[in-house]
Amino acid sequence: MVFNIWHFSALTVFMLIVCFDRTVHAQYYEVHRTKLDQLVWCNTLQAEQYKCLNFTVALERDRALFDDLYFNVTCHLGFNTEECIQLIDSEKAHMMSLDAGEVFIAGRYNSLIPIMQEGLEGGFTNYYAVAVVKQGTIPEVTSIRDLRGKKACFSEVGSQAGWTIPVYMLQKEGGMEIVDCNNHVKSAINFFGKSCAVNSLTNKYNPIGDNSDRLCAICTGKVPGGKCTSADPYAGFEGAFRCLLEAGDVAFLKHTTVNEMIDSKQFKSVTADRFELMCTDGQRRPLSEYRQCNWGLVPSHALVTSSARTSEERKRYQQFLMKAVNLYSSKPVINTTNPLSDKRYDGFNTFDRNSDDKYYDQSQFKDFANPSLDRDQDRYDRFGNTRYNGFANIDSAFGPERNLTEGNDTQLYERFELFESKRYGGRLNLMFQDAARNLVPIKEEDQSFGGYLGHSLGQILEVRQCPVGRMTLCVTSDPELEKCVKMRTALKAQLIKPEMNCYKAHSHINCMQAIQSGVADVTVLDASDVYTAGLRHDLIPFISEIYNLGEPEYYVVALAKEEDPDTELTYLKGKYTCHSGINTAAGWVYPLAYLISNGWIRPYGCDSIRAAAEYFTKSCVPGAISTEYNTGVPYDNMCDLCHGASYRYCRRDASEDYYGHTGAFRCLVEGGGHVAFVKHTTVSENTGGKRREWWARNTLNDDFELLCPDGTRADLKDFKTCNLGKVKANAVVTRGGLGFNETQVNAYMNLFTYAQQYYGRKELDSFGFSMFYSNPPYHDLIFQDATRQLQMIPPEKRRYDLYLGGDFMRARRITDCESGAKRSTISISVVAACVLYLYVYV
Ligand SMILES: *[C@@H]1O[C@H](CO)[C@@H](O)[C@H](O)[C@H]1NC(C)=O
Ligand SMILES: *[C@@H]1O[C@H](CO)[C@@H](O)[C@H](O)[C@H]1NC(C)=O
Ligand SMILES: *[C@@H]1O[C@H](CO)[C@@H](O)[C@H](O)[C@H]1NC(C)=O
Ligand SMILES: *[C@@H]1O[C@H](CO)[C@@H](O)[C@H](O)[C@H]1NC(C)=O
Ligand SMILES: *[C@@H]1O[C@H](CO)[C@@H](O)[C@H](O)[C@H]1NC(C)=O
Ligand SMILES: *[C@@H]1O[C@H](CO)[C@@H](O)[C@H](O)[C@H]1NC(C)=O
Repeated sequence: MVFNIWHFSALTVFMLIVCFDRTVHAQYYEVHRTKLDQLVWCNTLQAEQYKCLNFTVALERDRALFDDLYFNVTCHLGFNTEECIQLIDSEKAHMMSLDAGEVFIAGRYNSLIPIMQEGLEGGFTNYYAVAVVKQGTIPEVTSIRDLRGKKACFSEVGSQAGWTIPVYMLQKEGGMEIVDCNNHVKSAINFFGKSCAVNSLTNKYNPIGDNSDRLCAICTGKVPGGKCTSADPYAGFEGAFRCLLEAGDVAFLKHTTVNEMIDSKQFKSVTADRFELMCTDGQRRPLSEYRQCNWGLVPSHALVTSSARTSEERKRYQQFLMKAVNLYSSKPVINTTNPLSDKRYDGFNTFDRNSDDKYYDQSQFKDFANPSLDRDQDRYDRFGNTRYNGFANIDSAFGPERNLTEGNDTQLYERFELFESKRYGGRLNLMFQDAARNLVPIKEEDQSFGGYLGHSLGQILEVRQCPVGRMTLCVTSDPELEKCVKMRTALKAQLIKPEMNCYKAHSHINCMQAIQSGVADVTVLDASDVYTAGLRHDLIPFISEIYNLGEPEYYVVALAKEEDPDTELTYLKGKYTCHSGINTAAGWVYPLAYLISNGWIRPYGCDSIRAAAEYFTKSCVPGAISTEYNTGVPYDNMCDLCHGASYRYCRRDASEDYYGHTGAFRCLVEGGGHVAFVKHTTVSENTGGKRREWWARNTLNDDFELLCPDGTRADLKDFKTCNLGKVKANAVVTRGGLGFNETQVNAYMNLFTYAQQYYGRKELDSFGFSMFYSNPPYHDLIFQDATRQLQMIPPEKRRYDLYLGGDFMRARRITDCESGAKRSTISISVVAACVLYLYVYV
């Protein structure tokens, strides 16, 4: 008995353990499941939201039929497609269907991936892009070139059939010029007359805000907010059809749109024979001949989700949706008269429902950026033979399960139809295209925008091409090269064209040579280097930096420590001096011109290096002993204060700590200098905790004073009255003279315009890149950190002398023997240019 009780207790304990164990596991499982079972569908229209809600009702009703495949679908109404894409990207929503062109946007700029594609009538996963006109109208248009100036109706900017393909074809064969490498919308604005392409004024397609409203002119949405957005009645393929009917000359549609719209009975007394297709050769054909008369083939709409979903989760989505199609699609899938080609249809007979991974093989599309027609053909053949297997579930919709699943409940409620939209208030194509017949899973390795788009990606990229392929930026040090590479990556992320490359030269002069010879294309130079570049290397400035003056200028100031009252500008003999670099405007040309022309130091002809070397005791003048910048006698005391170790010592680039305006200031703060010649923003850029390196940590604005030309001192804020002159800001230069190419210069300007639009803010963006910021301990890499924006230099000022102005030219002549010697030739060429100018313009 004792034994029995013992036995019994042991059994109880055992049972308890087992039960407890199971409960814990079950709970865990439950939690896990619930999380996974949520599927938030993102919708962009109220009508779409209604349909989605109906879908959820149907799902709940039929929950049992889904077994393990069930998802608790909830519906979110987003503001527009862009918002939905972002919600899915941040995993606040999970799914939506997108046009092929939008799949590109969602995949390229966000991390969405397509996991299923709509299967259309006949089992196809492609449709044709067509141009539709009203029968007998615009007879003067006999080739697509003649579409110039016509009123066009696009479904929306970014849509594959309704935007990209027409723009692609017109660029290729219709004479549409590329107006702006980074905004192809402008090409269409320039080509067409008043038209409707919704979203042509949104930030995404109008990043610098200078699009004209021509492609919104005939849209009819309500102002504000509704016109020319996806809420416009002319938005989408249906909207483009409506636009054609009411206002346009030509509409860019799917080959099925016209019939869908006629069938929807929204337009009384409108019949399909009132429309015809316009082929790319200019011919007109009846609507039914879209196979012979189309503008291109487009992958059907795709369902996208976040790439963060695991492959298991994606499979579950696919299975769930296939089951949903199975239950909620009653439209006939297959018609034996195949709309595309009989060959492809053969595949149907070879279908094998047990084979999940034999849908199709797209491995030949891996190199998606280089599409070819051959491969395209290949795709069809493959599609015909194997892709069809994806339809494993179609069959069941008509098989015995169908009768089982429907039971005779069918009589009790209205059936939910996945691929039908008209009962939700007149709009078509809600959640899915109404032309869809089923959903085809995309194989895992093709679940990327490139894998799905195949050759269509080529068209998208082609439309964004730029006649100028690349722009090589020349830099002079490793830290600059590193920043340049970061900038290149950042620009690439935004697809900014032309592509930027980086080239490191050993000096600014070497950069000038590289640009002149075509090895590089642009570099950013100090005013005084702009002079050298123009005079000796035929380079022209075309973009300038703007600091806090609102004009591309700054003041040259002389700084001293407040605690050192003995230093004054009129008597610097024997002092220690800090200069941004040899032959820089603020660090050399202006101070030396001042000292020499006022007779404070002996000029030695025009040998300013000797003048300085004999007058100052020690200095840091980066570049002073470089044979590139000083062809005369080297004076070692000109580098005595410099800080750079080994090869960096006294180099005229960012590798020398005391190079540049901030470097000269640092030389004053910690290097023993009595005076530093810098630009008026330098102190405030570096004091008061703005720079965290030790040398700047405890410096304050009022530790320093300005030295005025009259020998007095002034507060830092008085730079406008106490300075050595005003000089032009640093500028971006490129080839002028015989190497000048206007297309290139315009493309470079365009690149910098968009670059600063995306990366011109002071705060670091998500890529950790800002053009006008340099990672400590460096400063002023490529661009000055004080830059607030870049400004295009007007064409009539794109010459070094015209850009720099008379004051600078005089100052430089005082300090530079070479320019002095060449003065006569410059004057002659300037005179000649002026005469030519007068001759041309009078
Ligand atoms: C589905 O999810 C929503 C939101 O989480 C919840 O309120 C609802 O009860 C769930 N429905 C089912 C049937 O689980
Ligand atoms: C199916 O093919 C027949 C011709 O065989 C055609 O008359 C009919 O309109 C087609 N049906 C659909 C839905 O395309
Ligand atoms: C399914 O139901 C349809 C009528 O709704 C009937 O014609 C068909 O024969 C049924 N199929 C089976 C396998 O019972
Ligand atoms: C529903 O099914 C039952 C048998 O399961 C049958 O007797 C009844 O006639 C059916 N009703 C309809 C409307 O088909
Ligand atoms: C779906 O919603 C619409 C209105 O939003 C309604 O008329 C319809 O009956 C609902 N049910 C189904 C199954 O479509
Ligand atoms: C200008 O540059 C473009 C692109 O680099 C080139 O295609 C074009 O031929 C050049 N024009 C001249 C006049 O050299």
